[in-house]
Amino acid sequence: MINSIRGTKDILPTEIPIWNFVEQTLRRVSNLYGFEEIRTPIMEKTEVFLRSLGAETDIVNKEMYTFVDKGGESITLRPEMTAAIVRSIIQNNLLFGSNILRLWYFGPLFRYERPQKGRLRQFYQYGAELVGSSEPEADVEILLLANSLIEELGISNYTLKINSIGNSTSRKVYRDVLVNYLFEHKEQLSKESKERLERNPLRILDSKDQGDQAILANAPNILDYLDTESIGHFNRVQTLLQKNGIEFVVNPKLVRGLDYYSHTVFEFQSEVLGAQDSFGGGGRYDELFQQFGGGQVPAIGFALGIERIIIILEHLKIFKQKLEPLVFVAYTNPMYINEVISVAETLRKNRIPAIFDLKKKSLKGQLKEANKHNATFALILGDEEIAQHRATLRNMNDSTQSSIPLDNLVQHLTLNITNANPTVSNIK
Ligand code: HAM
Repeated sequence: MINSIRGTKDILPTEIPIWNFVEQTLRRVSNLYGFEEIRTPIMEKTEVFLRSLGAETDIVNKEMYTFVDKGGESITLRPEMTAAIVRSIIQNNLLFGSNILRLWYFGPLFRYERPQKGRLRQFYQYGAELVGSSEPEADVEILLLANSLIEELGISNYTLKINSIGNSTSRKVYRDVLVNYLFEHKEQLSKESKERLERNPLRILDSKDQGDQAILANAPNILDYLDTESIGHFNRVQTLLQKNGIEFVVNPKLVRGLDYYSHTVFEFQSEVLGAQDSFGGGGRYDELFQQFGGGQVPAIGFALGIERIIIILEHLKIFKQKLEPLVFVAYTNPMYINEVISVAETLRKNRIPAIFDLKKKSLKGQLKEANKHNATFALILGDEEIAQHRATLRNMNDSTQSSIPLDNLVQHLTLNITNANPTVSNIK
């Protein structure tokens, strides 16, 4: 047996309804906020990510699926979408004629991480990017969209953590102060944090190591080092969130794992997820366009991890699947198979989903099969039915049966389907 690659996952037919529900909800709410969908290739030139995410980030250092293609070009399976979207906006001149872009996307990403609950090597993200405004109102617009998406999905018990990492000047000042402080405690830091001290000290703030956390408890606070502009921006974001009834917690240690951020950064966390507690995150990236040669274009965005959202929905047991109606056309004798095919086709032509047995099973076997497929009705053709040009309609939920004329089949079925209206929970 050949198994799937470690950290990748098949999404099986039983799981598709919840995925469809999530995708449809994300699409509907994005539309309410005026965001348009964009789809970019799953592979990009490696340079797209090297240039943007930060040479010292875990993603670039350890997690990218990079290979040289047959033409000798270095290619990377996208580990995130924001850099690819920026590349696409510049290449396709999407900002031309409009100074604000509202974009959303949905698709698979690839990171070579150590797989565990909620952490995969191929996973899906929904994301949204609001491009062209440096105003705090844009930050709030993005947070309102994220909040609506999460609530419309049915998730109410979560924490929004926000922070400001200021502009690059104030961040540099803070970085030096933090490094000085941490150097004094270097020997007590974890191995990973010691390494980060040289290369990416701000990430130490994120450390889950208990020893590190004890040292960090007295570390200088980034919010004390923001300049007036950065503080003003962050205060306005908080005021607007409060005015709109969005609850949040300010966490000065929230720095995020990508280098392109400035000013507002945020994460959505849920206790249901355990160690990987963040099901979404994002922030402002006012300097990323410049790194791609795209000029001064401020932007902000976020992404939600779909597998993590599905773990939460399954835990909450709130997702009820509305079953699509399905008619199982059954026969008492294989000699009626021609009639069965023709009846099934009539139903399909009238937009009623229909299947039938392809293994010439007994009627009992066919009804079992109908149940397995969650059929709403079985439509049985037997000697008597064929002779009278009728069919027996069996409601698979309550086993009641009635006889209906084949001539008015579609009208009869449509009426019965409307009345049956089945729902089932797909949470096991
Ligand atoms: P990120 O925090 O790296 O941000 O990822 C966002 C979300 O993707 C995480 O909160 C998590 O739910 C999910 N995720 C990340 N890695 C994995 C994994 N290995 N397995 C399963 N889920 C995962 C970004 O990617 C930014 N591009 C977000 C952004 C958009 N910032 C601005 N615009």
